[in-house]
Amino acid sequence: MSEALSAAPTVYLETFGCQMNELDSELVRGALVTLGYRFVEDWRTANVVLYNTCSVREQAEHKAYSRLGLIAQRKRAGENVVLGVIGCMAERDGKDMFRRYPQVDLLCGPGELDRLPNLIENLRTSQLLGDDAPRLSKDARSALAGNKSRRSTTLSAADDNLELLDLSRAFEPVDPTTERRSAYVRITRGCNKFCTYCVVPNTRGAEVHRPPDSIVEECRRLADAGVLEITLLGQTVNHYRYVHGSAVGSDGREQPQVGPGLAAFRSTSTLAAGLRTTTFADLLGRIHDEVPHLRRIRFVTSYPRDFGIDALQVMRDAPRICNYVHAPAQSGSDRILKLMNRGYTVGEYEEFVHRVFDVLPDATIAGDFIVGFPSETDEEFEATCDLVRRVPFKNNYIFKYSPRPGTVAIDRFVDDVPLETKKLRNNRLLELQTQVSQKVHEQWIGREVEVLFEKVRAHGAQPRETDPDDASSISHPASKNVELRWQRAKPQEGTQLIGRTQGDLIVAMGVTDESQAHRVGTFGMARVYAASPMILHAAPVSSA
Ligand code: 5AD
Ligand code: SF4
Repeated sequence: MSEALSAAPTVYLETFGCQMNELDSELVRGALVTLGYRFVEDWRTANVVLYNTCSVREQAEHKAYSRLGLIAQRKRAGENVVLGVIGCMAERDGKDMFRRYPQVDLLCGPGELDRLPNLIENLRTSQLLGDDAPRLSKDARSALAGNKSRRSTTLSAADDNLELLDLSRAFEPVDPTTERRSAYVRITRGCNKFCTYCVVPNTRGAEVHRPPDSIVEECRRLADAGVLEITLLGQTVNHYRYVHGSAVGSDGREQPQVGPGLAAFRSTSTLAAGLRTTTFADLLGRIHDEVPHLRRIRFVTSYPRDFGIDALQVMRDAPRICNYVHAPAQSGSDRILKLMNRGYTVGEYEEFVHRVFDVLPDATIAGDFIVGFPSETDEEFEATCDLVRRVPFKNNYIFKYSPRPGTVAIDRFVDDVPLETKKLRNNRLLELQTQVSQKVHEQWIGREVEVLFEKVRAHGAQPRETDPDDASSISHPASKNVELRWQRAKPQEGTQLIGRTQGDLIVAMGVTDESQAHRVGTFGMARVYAASPMILHAAPVSSA
């Protein structure tokens, strides 16, 4: 171990944005801990400060930029600190960020995170050598996919070191009394959809599917370590499709492979001619059957058009797969959906919703909407409201359109809906969704539900971290905000166990005293007696 590492440098890592980023951060943390780094909660004292950034909306970027200013102050005060920007902003802004933010020492895109430990170590070493050390070049301080991020041909094993980061994940036993009984497992990276507003296909690159054996293995090892609930991650999980025999490494293991384009997906027979294929439905079935000690299997995010009946049938037949669907509609207007390049009409979206409820009558469905997309008229916004009235969404994440550099929309369309109008539409849709959510939650009154308890809440306790800047993101899977949902519900008197149903409904269950804390991390039955737009209020069922 080098001198730099033997000094056990401390790292502060802050994550912005989506679940994919949360998983990336967890993997980065694992890799650095293995190398002897120690993670701390305070950015003011850490030797290495890393921001895992998100470019999907402007707001998340602003937050990250403001953090960079704080570290600049530390540097001006003469402190030795390595500042790294990792994730989508690093990839999107590229090396230009070094010029605009000279305090930034290193950049690492989401597709190159396996190279991060080396970058940090090089910088730490040169810092320890002091002023005499030659300043590392921008190339030596950055790992970015650049234009190779959209690899169009088959991906060779040698190219795909990122898989190693997933594979080398630490599997520490989970403390049964902690909230951490849930984990994310990536099934695909990147995206091939090119919705016109979205930066993800540029920052995370082409869709790449992990081999099913690796995914099942990872789920099994997490379950062995005590994880009860796994959320499979991908930008469009239903597009998962692995063709066997076409990408095998020198060790005989199957390797990740670039996903098929849209045309290939539509004509499955050509794609899989003679080759065995694992579809998303197959993958769900395999995880369910081969990891029996996993109590809940979820997945996000679903792309409505790719969500086949086969996956719904597996969900129906496999009891531990949660009947929860997060499938963003984005708009209720056909014209706007077309401008967004979403590839479906409002009618097709509703057909999909009917299919879901036909096969899974108890399913919960959530979505995303963007309001104020360029040229969206009042009537088109009303059409979105109508869709929200017609579909029993348990919740929706509502975003004001924000033009993102590198997207088709920013070049092709003028951002002509005034901010005030966007805000009004955002608030109106939120209000409407609150009414719909109330109705959906009320349907559960009188029923018994199985809850995985995540935390205990003493009477009068103050909620912790919230996200006050982004009211529209309440309970978005892109942020950790059970806390926020809880805060906004009318609290019950006394101590409560807070948890979720398999359909991702939050349950607050009144219990007699705090000695119930040992139930965190366990399942229990609860009877729902009241509902608010975000919470089911429940009482314990004694036989649980
Ligand atoms: N502006 C506003 N919302 C966006 N989203 C993605 N890109 C943008 C953008 N440029 C939203 C979409 C997506 C969610 C993760 O973020 O609704 O589903
Ligand atoms: Fe972005 Fe569309 Fe891909 Fe989702 S499906 S990540 S919105 S391009």
